[in-house]
Amino acid sequence: MSPVISVEHLSKAYHLGQIGTGTLSHDLNVLWAKMRGKPNPMLRIGEAPLRFPPNSANLGGEKEGGDGESIWALKDINFTVEQGEVLGIIGRNGAGKSTLLKILSRVTAPTEGKIKVKGRVASLLEVGTGFHPDLTGRENIYLNGSILGMGRKEIDRKFDEIVDFAEVEQFIDTPVKRYSSGMYVRLAFAVAAHLEPEILVVDEVLAVGDAEFQKKCLGKMEDVAHKGRTILFVSHNMAAIISLCSRVAYIDTGNFVAVGNPNDIVQSYVAHSSNNNSLNLLDRTDRIGSGLALVKFLSITGENGMELDNIISGQDVTVRIGYEIPSGIVIESGVCFLVFKTQLGQPLFTCSTRLFNEYVRLSPRGSLKCKIPRFPLNQGDYFVDVYLKRGSDSRDILDSLQEAIRIHVVGGDFFGTGRVANVESSPALVQHTWSMDNFV
Ligand SMILES: Nc1ncnc2c1ncn2[C@@H]1O[C@H](COP(=O)(O)OP(=O)(O)OP(=O)(O)O)[C@@H](O)[C@H]1O
Ligand SMILES: [Mg+2]
Repeated sequence: MSPVISVEHLSKAYHLGQIGTGTLSHDLNVLWAKMRGKPNPMLRIGEAPLRFPPNSANLGGEKEGGDGESIWALKDINFTVEQGEVLGIIGRNGAGKSTLLKILSRVTAPTEGKIKVKGRVASLLEVGTGFHPDLTGRENIYLNGSILGMGRKEIDRKFDEIVDFAEVEQFIDTPVKRYSSGMYVRLAFAVAAHLEPEILVVDEVLAVGDAEFQKKCLGKMEDVAHKGRTILFVSHNMAAIISLCSRVAYIDTGNFVAVGNPNDIVQSYVAHSSNNNSLNLLDRTDRIGSGLALVKFLSITGENGMELDNIISGQDVTVRIGYEIPSGIVIESGVCFLVFKTQLGQPLFTCSTRLFNEYVRLSPRGSLKCKIPRFPLNQGDYFVDVYLKRGSDSRDILDSLQEAIRIHVVGGDFFGTGRVANVESSPALVQHTWSMDNFV
């Protein structure tokens, strides 16, 4: 059987500081910065643009400043997908996952290489792709159906099911630009999954929406897979990847590191990320304290015990602090605390064993676990400081590390309403309710 997707020597360069970076607003920002002699706002902090083709000898070597340069989001990728396969794609932030899906959905063109895709593709990429903001939910369903080559009758038949799944009956004749982000994604997913595409491409839909909706999406994708359709699914949720996919590709900085059995690939990915964390900490020489204890690693895991690369706002997480003290010593009155702070060093909240009037017993080797239900930070990057102390004397620090780990939080439906708080005004998220008294 010939593959439904085949990709040969695919590379993609993004040209920074030039027109055509992706969206008009990005381009205007770049132009505006250039006119004022400011650095290119599209470049990430600490990231210099590269200026060499993917196959050249100095790959990964020389970096240059200036604008009008390129970064290679994908480098010489080769793979095929057979009909009915559910291919998971995993990798760190910026690895190139979304770029790959955008190329396969023909939202953006490859710089080099060839792709062949057989059949109708429905994609759920970033929020908003495929929908026209001024059209109503109803009009968008018909528009997307006809783009997929379906007749009006065929769409009529699917219509109720789509609206029902998305839970937007009341708003079906409202322009989608008035939808909350949760409603928008629900409808976009419902359209992509119900219009019977031959290939379904889904990018990280599980990061949005509440737990209930995530379950529904996974269930729907399972249905689609059982009908023998092909699915490409990007997610940072390893449990979802393992339960849904028949094969997984692990991408790192634009390269395919490994492709194969979901359990094996996820394990090597998780091991890879945790290795990095512990190596970094053991190399740190800027510790403060008596040195009687050594904090060896900090890791963050989700409900299923899998290490997380990203935390979703509102997700239950556990922070694990691994430490060592000399053999033969036991510290009965240990205190541990974690300070979560912004990248600028502003503390946001602290988790401390002292707040529970408890001392922890530190034996030569072990780890402490701090469970944080409904992780209360908005999307963004944060740091965590860790302190191990003895007793109530705040000066008796056994070991401490500032910025022991950096965490990346992805926006989620913390409030369960599909609404997301503005990051600038609300880095911390607090569950709350409102009521009203009218006196006039
Ligand atoms: N429109 C664009 N213009 C310039 N650079 C881009 C553009 N889109 C993506 N990039 C860059 O390409 C690289 C790959 O990005 P991509 O969005 O594919 O990563 P990803 O694996 O989807 O990451 P995440 O897990 O954070 O979604 C990154 O370095 C990113 O900064
Ligand atoms: Mg992405």
